[in-house]
Amino acid sequence: MKKTGLLDIQKMKDEGENITMLTAYDFQTSRILDGCNVDILLVGDSVGNVIMGLENTLPVTVAEMIYHVKAVVRGRKHALVVADMPFMSYQVSIEEAKKNAGALIKEGGAEAVKVEGGENVEAVIRAICEIDIPVMGHIGLTPQSIHRMGGYKIQGKDEQQREKLIADALAVERAGAFSVVLEGIPKSLARRISDTLRIPTIGIGAGVHCGGQVLVINDLIGLSGKFRPKFVKQYAQVEEIIKNAVKEFVTDVKTEKFPTDEYSFK
Ligand code: KIV
Repeated sequence: MKKTGLLDIQKMKDEGENITMLTAYDFQTSRILDGCNVDILLVGDSVGNVIMGLENTLPVTVAEMIYHVKAVVRGRKHALVVADMPFMSYQVSIEEAKKNAGALIKEGGAEAVKVEGGENVEAVIRAICEIDIPVMGHIGLTPQSIHRMGGYKIQGKDEQQREKLIADALAVERAGAFSVVLEGIPKSLARRISDTLRIPTIGIGAGVHCGGQVLVINDLIGLSGKFRPKFVKQYAQVEEIIKNAVKEFVTDVKTEKFPTDEYSFK
């Protein structure tokens, strides 16, 4: 299997092939997902909630992102690695945005960065693209805007919001982004945006009419505790598997069934 590059992502859209993207935060998960031919590995700032146990993504830093990006890059052979730009790493100035995007590429080893926002970040996306760092956009329910949105709420519910989101999508494309995540919007709106844009859309909670789909890996495998939003299809119950294995280990140690001679040195 050959390495997935940026041009392959646009080719998939042009040829009607759906793009697959999953989050990854560590070496082993990256290795496994890469071996399953996932097209894009996203080192999401969801690392904050999923791995660090934070309430939201806002406290995640560039240094923390770089740490996880490095691990994911070491684990993959084929997939395109995209790194999220965390909150406040691109909002203060274009110079800081370029520097931080550069660090995720140069130190982390990612091949592209993801930025949340539409018309409000058009200039930022353009500036990062102009220094040859590919950018993935992200509009709709953008978790870094949790306070403005008043929580994790489906966006694009009225016509005014829908028109705004179409303008945001067009701004992201105009600025040079190579793709855009559509999160938490009605599927009819996702279809309208996907049909309007030249670049691929990648949906999460945005229905089937996107150019591809993304999920958080822990949600997909059932390793997110009680958190289970409507748009998540749980393909496995890994939490149950871990619990059973660990309970068995605890019993074995307490009853001296482990380690047997098989696991001991003479
Ligand atoms: O941080 C993240 O995991 C994301 C995806 C949910 C798109 O942005």
